[in-house]
Amino acid sequence: MELPFAESYKMKMVESLRKSTKDERLQWIKDAKYNLFGLRSDQVFIDLLTDSGTGAMSDKQWSAMMLGDESYAGASSYFNLRNAIADLLGFEYFLPTHQGRAAENVLFSVMVKEGQVVPGNSHFDTTKGHIEFRKAKAIDCTIDEAFDTTCYHPFKGNIDLNKLEDVLKKHPKEMVSMVIVTLTCNSSGGQPVSMENLRSVSALAKQYGVQVIYDSARFAENAYFIKIREKGYENKTIREIVAEMFSYADGMTMSAKKDAIVNMGGFIGLRSQDLFRQASVFNIVYEGYITYGGMSGRDMNAVAQGLYEGTEFDYLDTRIKQVAYLGEKIKAYGIPLQEPFGGHAIFVDAKKFLSHISPEELQAQTLAVELYIEGGVRGVEIGTLLADRDPVTRVNRYPALEFLRLAIPRRVYTNNHMDYIAVALGNVFERRMEIRRGYTITYEAPIMRHFTVELEKIQD
Ligand code: F0G
Repeated sequence: MELPFAESYKMKMVESLRKSTKDERLQWIKDAKYNLFGLRSDQVFIDLLTDSGTGAMSDKQWSAMMLGDESYAGASSYFNLRNAIADLLGFEYFLPTHQGRAAENVLFSVMVKEGQVVPGNSHFDTTKGHIEFRKAKAIDCTIDEAFDTTCYHPFKGNIDLNKLEDVLKKHPKEMVSMVIVTLTCNSSGGQPVSMENLRSVSALAKQYGVQVIYDSARFAENAYFIKIREKGYENKTIREIVAEMFSYADGMTMSAKKDAIVNMGGFIGLRSQDLFRQASVFNIVYEGYITYGGMSGRDMNAVAQGLYEGTEFDYLDTRIKQVAYLGEKIKAYGIPLQEPFGGHAIFVDAKKFLSHISPEELQAQTLAVELYIEGGVRGVEIGTLLADRDPVTRVNRYPALEFLRLAIPRRVYTNNHMDYIAVALGNVFERRMEIRRGYTITYEAPIMRHFTVELEKIQD
């Protein structure tokens, strides 16, 4: 008999979870103004709000923390991280930052100017926020297949080369800040980009004299999908694939809270000394001196170790199979979701799930609240709230897809937790017609409103 799949690690430390009653949750979510970010963590049983900074570090990472060098300048931890980045990702220059959006802030302070355009594949919200904050425009060039949740395409994160070329043709190169490729593409469902697409995007950008920057938060998961799905890569190691992926980029921003499996950290990787020097100025202003930039020495050590662990096949296989395990369980209820399943999360198609509720009443948010009430499971809306208003017209942007994202923290939950989540969502699906109305906004911030938005239930 073939041996069944089993996790490639065992547990050494555990943390208790608090269960709650439905009545308690009804009160807590009302007090939180129906915004799941407003809940206290002990009001949540299974927390799928994000896979960012919520992973379990390994024994090797914790021991690397103890060896952290906290010198202000030139710490050995800085060199550990610099060596890991050069070794695995191939960038000669790097700047540490406290997280991914800080890397965006520093790099975009150099590269993004008012009136410019930034084509890419469904930019993440902080990326878009940093672009729009500088009065530039993010242009989504993702392939159309990404917006049909039922259509199978192995690389739904791919950039449509015709759409990209259109943008590059229409704008002189001085008006294009860069091309951003998000790996994996979070907003379209944790969907990967193929090596072939990365290669072609790089060639096209080069032809038009524009630099390519990777938003690399989940680059290792992207490499896993290339190994599993793209012809010619099945016998390559994850690290060989990663090295080729980054060989097509001029630079990268990284939220280390994802694929480097740490609780806090980020960095910028660059090839150009000139760009590095310009970005260093902003790094010092916003983050800290260039050999720590927002991170403690111990944190840099943990990131360096995490980059190696995050690019091991067995680890990635364990993680991505757990996400797929949850996907299959949910699918068995007939619940509509983005397929193929993403690397870090299951994206439930709230537009179809609650098709009787109008997008103005925030379908994905409504579903997220219902799942919390049902089982104490906290997911997150990737829909109208996240899409924000148009920065110029201030009209609400209604995205093509309304998702409830169930992001799975790395090395944290068991498959019993996955079973529980699936049943809770299944119960909501069975009673979905009883959910008659959604929510209306009573307070919102001018940008990235989803974090602090306050909502009111619309009465029947
Ligand atoms: N890029 C991508 C693709 C991301 O998913 C994130 C964060 C960032 C950049 C920003 O990084 O949080 O370290 O500042 N995503 C988290 C999420 C918040 O829940 O998906 P950060």
